[in-house]
Amino acid sequence: MSFTGQRYDFHDQAGDYARLADELGGLLRGESDFVANAANTAALVYDALPDLNWAGFYFLKQGELVVGPFQGKPACVRIALGKGVCGTAAVQRKTLIVPDVNAFPGHIACDAASQSEIVVPLLIGSELLGVLDIDSPRLARFNEGDARGLERLAAIFLAGVRLEDIT
Ligand code: SME
Repeated sequence: MSFTGQRYDFHDQAGDYARLADELGGLLRGESDFVANAANTAALVYDALPDLNWAGFYFLKQGELVVGPFQGKPACVRIALGKGVCGTAAVQRKTLIVPDVNAFPGHIACDAASQSEIVVPLLIGSELLGVLDIDSPRLARFNEGDARGLERLAAIFLAGVRLEDIT
């Protein structure tokens, strides 16, 4: 396990996501425990990205999303597929950037501080595992560069996941 503690200012967004991807790869290398890897992924994202108030996972269990390892305030435990930003991204199977959560019909407010959100679906082949959900207290915090960077981090996390570990 290697956590560099390196700081990222994201003035070079693509470069910092690439460095963060390397750091995450090092952090997860050699460890196959699913909860440990999900917890460290959430912690690294929360620590490295500026202006976040929540970062973590929801995993698909018996047809609904159930909160997994995260950083931030306690969150709603279960989200139905198709509901909220998380359930919508899960059903659409594509990354959803919401610049203003108050303008998103059906947004589920877990922390009143959240103003914008990005949700990356987690897929192994055609199998939906859940989502990576990230909230910010700043409006329009996330752009397409964040989407690509976070998808890359999600892929690194997923590379070590065995489906039987989470069902
Ligand atoms: N806002 C999410 C709910 C999860 S919390 O943000 C942690 C949603 O609308 O799905």
